[in-house]
Amino acid sequence: MATNRRDFIKRAVLALVAIPLMSSRTDVLADETNNDGIMKKIMIIDGGPRKNMNTAAMLGKVAEGASQAGAEVKVVRLYDMNYKGCVSCLACKVKGRASNVCKFKDALTPVLEEIAQADGLVLGSPIYFGDVTGQMRTFLERLAFPWLSYNDYSMTAPKKMPVLLIETMNGQPERNNSQGYGSMEYCIASAIGQPEHLVAYNTYQVRNYNNFELAGFSEEAKRRWRDEHWEEDLQKAYDAGKRMVE
Ligand SMILES: Cc1cc2nc3c(=O)[nH]c(=O)nc-3n(C[C@H](O)[C@H](O)[C@H](O)COP(=O)(O)O)c2cc1C
Repeated sequence: MATNRRDFIKRAVLALVAIPLMSSRTDVLADETNNDGIMKKIMIIDGGPRKNMNTAAMLGKVAEGASQAGAEVKVVRLYDMNYKGCVSCLACKVKGRASNVCKFKDALTPVLEEIAQADGLVLGSPIYFGDVTGQMRTFLERLAFPWLSYNDYSMTAPKKMPVLLIETMNGQPERNNSQGYGSMEYCIASAIGQPEHLVAYNTYQVRNYNNFELAGFSEEAKRRWRDEHWEEDLQKAYDAGKRMVE
């Protein structure tokens, strides 16, 4: 699985390099200062649709940890926003006015500008058909394309910062189909910094399995897994949020 994932990322990155030119809800929850003596700001991007389920819970714990460590935390819920992926306007690559922050104007614009100034970035997504959600992928296009130079294929973000990537899924550590953040992870690692990972496996997909046609899952086995792992997953998320600030 690890080799497949590496091959996939390599292929996706080669494809990228080989084809030259081809209502938001945000919560400020909370003081740890950055080098300029300003309170550190952590941006949390929730790429899941459900406000009270697994991904949101993991991100909530990251927010709690970062906020308790003294940072200002902002949670952005992508599913509440109206925005597009990269529209290939190439405004970020105009001669003499190139920008490593997307120039296209829509609801995502202020979020991308805030990320450019932030002190930490957290991305969270459920895994859908082996990938992050479409909403997360669409957001990542807008975040990462301006980083890519078509002059020398380097990747440069406005600022380096700690990054945490979170996935939640039905799959288990030894058996899952997740490609995670795929080729976008290479872009993030090159441009902002090597990300830390957190995965919540074998999550409870619904609160009551009796109400749904989900016979392929044993609720009993799910419950046992949750009893053994879920609190630990949340604690890891809290600790990662705290670490990001400290
Ligand atoms: C459309 C859809 C596709 C999914 N595809 C996968 C998948 O490919 N692999 C997997 O392990 N889980 C898959 N799942 C399960 C979710 O990733 C898992 O339940 C996740 O924890 C849900 O996050 P949430 O509770 O924050 O919504 C899928 C769920 C949905 C709704």
